[in-house]
Amino acid sequence: MVRTLSGIQPTGNLHIGNYLGALVNWVRLQREYESYFFLADLHALTQRPPAGQLRSAVRELAIGVLASGVDPDKSTLFVQSHVPQHAELCWVLTCLTPLGDLNRMTQFKDKSAQQPDNINAGLFTYPILQTADIALYRPECVPVGEDQDQHLELARETLRRFNFVYGDTFPEPKTAKSHAPRVMGVDGDSKMSKSKGNEIGLFETADETWQKLRGAKTDPARLRRADPGNPDICNIYSYHGFFSPPETCAEVAAGCRSAALGCVDCKKMLAVNMEAVKGPIRERAAALRAAPKRLDEILAAGAEKARRTAEETMTLVRERIGIRGEANA
Ligand code: TRP
Repeated sequence: MVRTLSGIQPTGNLHIGNYLGALVNWVRLQREYESYFFLADLHALTQRPPAGQLRSAVRELAIGVLASGVDPDKSTLFVQSHVPQHAELCWVLTCLTPLGDLNRMTQFKDKSAQQPDNINAGLFTYPILQTADIALYRPECVPVGEDQDQHLELARETLRRFNFVYGDTFPEPKTAKSHAPRVMGVDGDSKMSKSKGNEIGLFETADETWQKLRGAKTDPARLRRADPGNPDICNIYSYHGFFSPPETCAEVAAGCRSAALGCVDCKKMLAVNMEAVKGPIRERAAALRAAPKRLDEILAAGAEKARRTAEETMTLVRERIGIRGEANA
């Protein structure tokens, strides 16, 4: 089986943007690929989480990933910091990455603007750690959102440089064919994200979600109930595309165009279909929260498997570079 790898950061509660953007894709991929999925707690350090908070955030994220359908019998699910090889390879690759390449990263600029009081070096070298994450498992493809394309390109360049300097070691990690969809927030203005406060939480109750949908933006040109709307520019309609069956989408689009269906009723239909997806996830998450030992076991088994693969790669890397070899360790 061809190998794939992806990671997600523990930054606050999972929302439907994470679910649709990453997790749905992971669940699909695990059937066809030898899958490594990890929770990027070392990356989250760039946001300086208060002491002790990260551990519980990682557990909640693991619960969300599993509740969404990632199956630990099919995939290797692990926590990044449980595999020390990530940090080791990161240093090696740091010494192979030109500052000029990092300077071009737009995410560094975005994040620096988001946290002007904490522009730490980790924020700058973040893509190198990401390169190490990928390289350790030598995956054929890496599923990511569009916003990670630049980091993947940097990863390919860095690994090409490693191969050139130390001999062929790493295959070129390709971006997975289909990009994760970009899910807009309930404000309809920007990508769904916790920092924008425009998210619908994956674990929210139906009621909490309805409060958000009620206030969510629709086609701005549709001022009165009798005005015909344009579903193509309506954010609520884009949500229908993710949560409602095709027949419902067609019905909603036609009803919107002819003004037969009002925005409130359209939102009510969406709320029902969203809950049909979120309800069972919420229940599975509650069951996992009630079984902390089971979660420990899953993450321990994932880490063990990941460490084995990572160590194989590092043994080769150390040998190629000429550090910490068997003979003189
Ligand atoms: N930077 C990614 C994001 O914010 C998360 C990530 C870290 C990742 N390491 C990775 C994704 C390695 C894919 C492969 O979405």
